[in-house]
Parts: sequence; C-alpha cells; structure tokens
Amino acid sequence: MIISARESLKSWVKARAWAKPVLREINHSRCEAWDLIHGVDTCGKIPLSGLDFDSKNKTAGLEYQSHHPALTRSALMELPVQYDDYSFIDIGCGKGRVLLIASEFPFRRIIGVEFAPTLAEIARNNLQSYRRAHTVCTEIEVVTGDALEYNLAPEAQVLYFFSPFSPSVLDQIVQRIEDSFQRSPRDLLVMFSGVIPMRERAFGWRPQYERLSRKPHMDVYRHR
Ligand SMILES: C[S@@+](CC[C@H](N)C(=O)[O-])C[C@H]1O[C@@H](n2cnc3c(N)ncnc32)[C@H](O)[C@@H]1O
Repeated sequence: MIISARESLKSWVKARAWAKPVLREINHSRCEAWDLIHGVDTCGKIPLSGLDFDSKNKTAGLEYQSHHPALTRSALMELPVQYDDYSFIDIGCGKGRVLLIASEFPFRRIIGVEFAPTLAEIARNNLQSYRRAHTVCTEIEVVTGDALEYNLAPEAQVLYFFSPFSPSVLDQIVQRIEDSFQRSPRDLLVMFSGVIPMRERAFGWRPQYERLSRKPHMDVYRHR
C-alpha cells in the first residue's frame, strides 16, 4: 500500500503532541509572510461571534479562515473550464483571499458574497492593494449581504464554498441554486472545501451533481 506524504505527516504529527502547535505556528507565519509580500490582510481565524453585525443566520455561519493560496491556485488551475466563459463566485468570501487568487485567472467576472460587513470591507481593501503582477481579471466585486438573499445571474458559473455555514443554511442555498438552474439551465460547477463528511452532506449525495474530482482539501462537482 502506498502511503502519501500527507498521510505520513499526519501520523507523525499525531504521535507527537508538541508538533501540532508548532506546525500551526509555521502555517500562520507562512500566511503572514504571504500577506506582507502582497500588501493584504487575509490571515487568521475569526469567530463570527466576535464581529459586530446582526443576521438571523449568524449563529449558523462558521468562523472566517482561509486556505493557503497555493492550494486554491492549484484547484483553480485544474478546473475543466474555459475561464472567460464563466463567472466565479465565492459564497462567504471573508477577507477575499480566494478572490485575489481567482483574479489571476481570466474569469469573465468575480464576485464575493459576505454577510459580515467588517470582513467584506477588508476584502475590498485587499482587492485595492493586491499587487500581484499576474492579476488578469479586473471585474471583481464584493457584495455585502447574506448568501441566502443573493440572486445568481443566469450565466455559466463556478461557485466556491469553503465551510461557510452549517447544513440548515447550506440546504437552503442549494435549493436556491437549484431554482436558478431550473429557470436558466447552464454549466454550473461547484468547488467545495471542508472535511469530507461536510462535502458529502453538502453536494456529494445529491444525484443532480456529478463529482469531477476529490482532493485532500476540495471536491469539484458539476450540475448534471
Ligand atoms: C471559512 S470562511 C471562508 C472564506 C473564504 N471563502 C476563503 O476561502 O478564504 C467562511 C465565510 O463565510 C461567511 N458566511 C457565513 N455565513 C454566511 C452567509 N449566510 N452569508 C454570507 N456569508 C456567510 C463567514 O462570515 C466567513 O467569512
């Protein structure tokens, strides 16, 4: 049996209690370095309870956090799409790190939806200051609002989710996507990141979605 490097690292860390906080610290430093180099603020884990805003879906929302840019970039590179035919939408975009990485690809347009106004504002500032030379999509917008009230445009889309909310809200979002698809059938891809049971609970079990790939951090689905 071939054991992947990732699995070996996992069991190595599991056997050494001291290694977990050290690795967390290393990851955090890498993240801060990336922010510093690019003149942005995307790091950290922020529980929504610590943010000053009201929403009936606040308690169902999961804390802000983001993947390392390299993970997002490689997932985007492998998408089986002609980028300029698709819009990219990050549902629950937080500080917008995924929007920054997506802007390196020639999507038709990029939209982030975020209900915490403080995070949405940080995402807008990040877009202003992102200095990466490879930014190719410039039509980018951050919408402050609840994902449950956001109306999808009738166009080919890549929808991105990174563990944004609990199943009660997720089911309603999926129903809204379904309603939109039934009104305007089109190519619709979903990138869903989170633990595997969450991915299965969100899209994996639904017969109308075909799973195109599964990676340690991400599933990609296409609406049939
Ligand atoms: C785990 S973070 C992911 C952030 C971003 N997608 C990324 O990968 O960098 C989840 C985000 O979803 C947002 N969120 C949770 N529930 C939401 C809702 N109902 N409407 C809009 N945003 C929501 C949270 O505020 C948080 O910023």
